[in-house]
Amino acid sequence: MTKTLSRFLYGGDYNPDQWTEETWPEDIKVFKKADLNSATINIFSWAVLEPREGVYDFSKLDKIVQELSDANFNIVMGTATAAMPAWMFKKYPDIARVDYQGRRHVFGQRHNFCPNSKNYQRLDSELVKKLAQHYADNPHIVVWHVNNEYGGNCYCGNCQNAFRDWLRNKYKTLGALNKAWNMNVWSHTIYDWDEIVVPNELGDAWGPESSETIVAGLSIDYLRFQSESLQNLFKMEKAVIKKYDPETPVTTNFHSLPNKMIDYQKWAQDQDIISYDSYPTYDAPAYKPAFLYDLMRSLKHQPFMLMESAPSQVNWQSYSPLKRPGQMAATELQAVAHGADTVQFFQLKQAVGGSEKFHSAIIAHSQRTDTRAFRELADLGQKLKEAGPTILGSKTKAKVAIVFDWSNFWSYEYVDGITQDLNYVDSILDYYRQFYERNIPTDIIGVDDDFSNYDLVVAPVLYMVKAGLAEKINSYVEKGGHFVTTYMSGMVDSTDNVYLGGYPGPLKDVTGIWVEESDAMVPGQKVRVKMDDKEYETSLMCDLIHPNKAKVLASYADEFYAGTAAITENDYGKGKAWYVGTKLGHQGLTQLFNHIVLETGVESLVCDSHKLEVTKRVTADGKKLYFVLNMSNEERELPNKFADYEDILTGEKAKSSMKGWDVQVLTK
Ligand code: GLA
Ligand code: ZN
Repeated sequence: MTKTLSRFLYGGDYNPDQWTEETWPEDIKVFKKADLNSATINIFSWAVLEPREGVYDFSKLDKIVQELSDANFNIVMGTATAAMPAWMFKKYPDIARVDYQGRRHVFGQRHNFCPNSKNYQRLDSELVKKLAQHYADNPHIVVWHVNNEYGGNCYCGNCQNAFRDWLRNKYKTLGALNKAWNMNVWSHTIYDWDEIVVPNELGDAWGPESSETIVAGLSIDYLRFQSESLQNLFKMEKAVIKKYDPETPVTTNFHSLPNKMIDYQKWAQDQDIISYDSYPTYDAPAYKPAFLYDLMRSLKHQPFMLMESAPSQVNWQSYSPLKRPGQMAATELQAVAHGADTVQFFQLKQAVGGSEKFHSAIIAHSQRTDTRAFRELADLGQKLKEAGPTILGSKTKAKVAIVFDWSNFWSYEYVDGITQDLNYVDSILDYYRQFYERNIPTDIIGVDDDFSNYDLVVAPVLYMVKAGLAEKINSYVEKGGHFVTTYMSGMVDSTDNVYLGGYPGPLKDVTGIWVEESDAMVPGQKVRVKMDDKEYETSLMCDLIHPNKAKVLASYADEFYAGTAAITENDYGKGKAWYVGTKLGHQGLTQLFNHIVLETGVESLVCDSHKLEVTKRVTADGKKLYFVLNMSNEERELPNKFADYEDILTGEKAKSSMKGWDVQVLTK
């Protein structure tokens, strides 16, 4: 049986091997002062652990494990396989990736191994075996952290060969492959498996990686294959660890906004617990990290680990402002509000050298604790010590789901035409914001998830509809479900070939419409949509809709298609389906969702939240925890509903007025 976390972790990435041993006890004292209880170690230590092939030296790691254990710290143990030692590149050049431009990498950077290099696979599994054998019995190790932030593609010969095998297995015959990729275009017909080449800039792609390609079917299959190749590496490390330590949970840290290269929904089943590195950019609206946390929680419908986050500024943005007073705690607790069961940082101690020396840390370059940043970190530590045991393991329940699907992510952004502005994440976020602002709990699910748990399923820009999906949607709506979809939906099958007979292809039935043409908006062009006697601006594209069976909710007010349908509603079985034929601005979408939310009966956690973010987690014994967050720097009033609640972060009565970045976790 895999164990679960037995306490709420407050800690983060610690790189003691960058420092002399005499400094470690002092570091640990400072961490304790901030109520830290965990450290993630050994993430990038391969060169120290294995100075020459087959020669292992764990003496330094043993010491730090001992010191952290003596201080009663929980340890998140890295496998150290994400950054390779110099000797390894010299001895086995094929471990390095060949990039999109076709260039073989040399020693340097990190995260640049070829997933299909047999040498990398062997060296990786041998190191992990040694580590697992050595540390399997240590009770302080509570999680194994495999590799680090998997991602990126390799276009080398090893990958090309493995890709050909993968395709042979998937398509069986060249006839099926040529058909799936529609290879009669531009004389692309393949007559032998070894004519298939990787879709990099020298081949069928152009422009920035995974944005433009001639044969999207080929490029999408390549992304699926690369995601799977990396996943196999994860599975290989996990299997080695489990052999020696079957009970400690194993994870790898997911990352980015979200990571385009990795299909996290496919990876989730192999994770014992999901973990996520969160680095919202300074200008990201608060609903964006909220969306990503909801996505992480929904991957397994379980609490997740906030594996990394910045205590204040990062080093890698063009501009990295400090987190304002109070902002650090609010941004960390936002993750907890959406399902995180840990608060962990990168990094615990600010490095003296390397590219991350100006990335914030618990112990800053000043090495002092009488600072604003440290006081805030210690204050959060105190609060989590109080509230962590209650929060740990509590669950989120959502009746609304938004569909986010990696094959759609890839295929949508490969589309050439009819506008260059297609952005999958932004399109999804417009819809997520509708629920965020209403404080309606929302899951972010994949196309293979069970829809029947939800009163409303929203699938914006569901461009790619694979076999069986339309039938699943139809049956969900027929039985009383509510479904929303938009322009650029139901266009292609799983290898990017268009469904003939009018858009939105297999979704025509449930939406009760068909789309004859779509007009692209050019810069400066303004088209309005008329809904409930009010006019709203729209952008990106306008579908010219035939509302066969559907009712028209809004029409265009401009252009030669003025007066024709822009948004429709269709009764289908016991449910309803809406089709939004254009990219409505926020106001218009809000007006539309006032109607849809009312129709579906899904409820907000609080009706008038005074621009506060409110989420709910429920503990195993049924205690309701309301996270009320002021994700702004302005003072806001607490909704009346919470007047007689208590804040478990402080043990005090709820404060009726919340200053900028204030957070309360309220219960009765
Ligand atoms: C990532 C990595 C860390 C560190 C941080 C800096 O999340 O996993 O090693 O580089 O970014 O923000
Ligand atoms: Zn490769």
